[in-house]
Amino acid sequence: MPVTMDTLVSLSKRRGFVFQSSEIYGGTGSVWDYGPLGVELKQNIKRLWWRDFVQSRADMVGLDASILMHPMVWTASGHVDKFTDPMVDCHECRHRFRADHVDARPWTHYCPATKGNKFVIPAGEACGHCGARRTLCPECGKGELTAPRQFNLMFKTFMGPVEDEAALTYLRPETAQAMFVNFDNVLQSMRLKLPFGIAQAGRSFRNEITPGNFIFRTREFEQMEIEYFVNPHDTVEGRPADEWWHDRWIADCMAWFRRYGLREENLRLREHEKAELAHYAKRTVDIDYLFPIGWSELMGIANRSDYDLKQHSKFSGKSLTYFDEERKEHIVPFVVEPAAGVDRALLAFLADAYQEEEVRGEKRVVLRFHPELAPVKVAVLPLLKKREEIVRTAHGIRAALSRHFRVVYDDTAAIGRLYRRQDEVGTPYCVTVDVQTVGDRDKGESGDGRVTIRDRDSMQQVRVPEGELLPVFRGLLEDGDWGAVVARFGGVTADAGRSREGDP
Ligand code: GAP
Repeated sequence: MPVTMDTLVSLSKRRGFVFQSSEIYGGTGSVWDYGPLGVELKQNIKRLWWRDFVQSRADMVGLDASILMHPMVWTASGHVDKFTDPMVDCHECRHRFRADHVDARPWTHYCPATKGNKFVIPAGEACGHCGARRTLCPECGKGELTAPRQFNLMFKTFMGPVEDEAALTYLRPETAQAMFVNFDNVLQSMRLKLPFGIAQAGRSFRNEITPGNFIFRTREFEQMEIEYFVNPHDTVEGRPADEWWHDRWIADCMAWFRRYGLREENLRLREHEKAELAHYAKRTVDIDYLFPIGWSELMGIANRSDYDLKQHSKFSGKSLTYFDEERKEHIVPFVVEPAAGVDRALLAFLADAYQEEEVRGEKRVVLRFHPELAPVKVAVLPLLKKREEIVRTAHGIRAALSRHFRVVYDDTAAIGRLYRRQDEVGTPYCVTVDVQTVGDRDKGESGDGRVTIRDRDSMQQVRVPEGELLPVFRGLLEDGDWGAVVARFGGVTADAGRSREGDP
């Protein structure tokens, strides 16, 4: 059974992934706060994206630009004129909708064939009693909707103490433009040769008419964008370089999401129709994900041609060109833009990782995160919290491993329950310290210095010398090869799921 959005929202709040913003004041559905585990997961997504697409590539560099930019940036980019959505309002309840989304909503209907009884009818369907189709407001079922009006999605603000037109600027609606505006700075300072890319991850703001579906569409969100500049006169494998690189980036981005756990059957590519293309795009392909709300855009990969550099050159009067040594001429590079949303990626990873299963007659909720994405890598759990030696050893292990990855210590329940808690937040490995590890001084028995590692997915357990923990986890977090650990240390046992301390 695919996970529902309600299940994810509830798990996120209960286990500290995502909270509704300003909840104590009634909250707002259009912005969300990332809790202690959410922030770790989000940082892991950004870190892996940066590592795989920037740090490990010789043709990529990074940027961290400010959110507030010169207002002319947004005139040149076309956002002031064209970054709009059509909106309609209900005359009765004042609810506001995106005109192109109205028919995709369930609609409220007071049916004349059933003495005006109220029904909520699925999106796009007719009333089963009277056959009517929606004409009024889908929310209240009573009011007429206004004709569509264009609504600019940029948040306006004022720079400085005077709130007049001269001080007007915007919160950036995408991170992309800073990379175009800084094209020459980056090119000159880093002495780059085409093709090369500039990457940036950061906050963007859009005054969406109908935000919603949890963190899928919000007014404040984070993007991870790359502007990859290519020489339009070059060819690769007999094809224009921009077109070849566009396909290459589509394949690389798909591979990236698969690598970190999104299942093949939940991913698809969607080519934009000509009429749907943004004003700057020569071609755009979306990577769609089967979210709990249905197939929707996870990221877009556009071929923006030379539109942006030419626009900024025209409006700023500064040359934004590249000197092509081979042809001895200045050219304006074309740009391929892989643009992903951090929050949407997080939602997709969360939805894909969520699984419910039955283990020995009990329900187990487990987030099967890729180990590198998991918010907590290792949980250290003392089997008996009243045994000082066990607790001290467990704290010592936590402290030593914490220098390398996120590790938690927990002794607030019996072991079976502690395992379930860690499964529910996707912790790939638990370490338990028991009497066998430390020995029993009263009986004059010394410990074997071994601790138990428990694997989240198989629930198998293996005893490993304490001193081997760091290299073992380094290996596991890199390649997740639990089989290699089992082969090396042997003696595998199954997680009984219940505690010797009497877990109910
Ligand atoms: N520079 C191109 C650009 O911004 P976009 O398709 O508008 O393209 C890129 O945005 C990605 O940013 C989307 O695929 C989505 O993942 C994310 N995104 C856009 N608007 C969003 C919103 N309101 N809430 C959450 N994520 C959003």
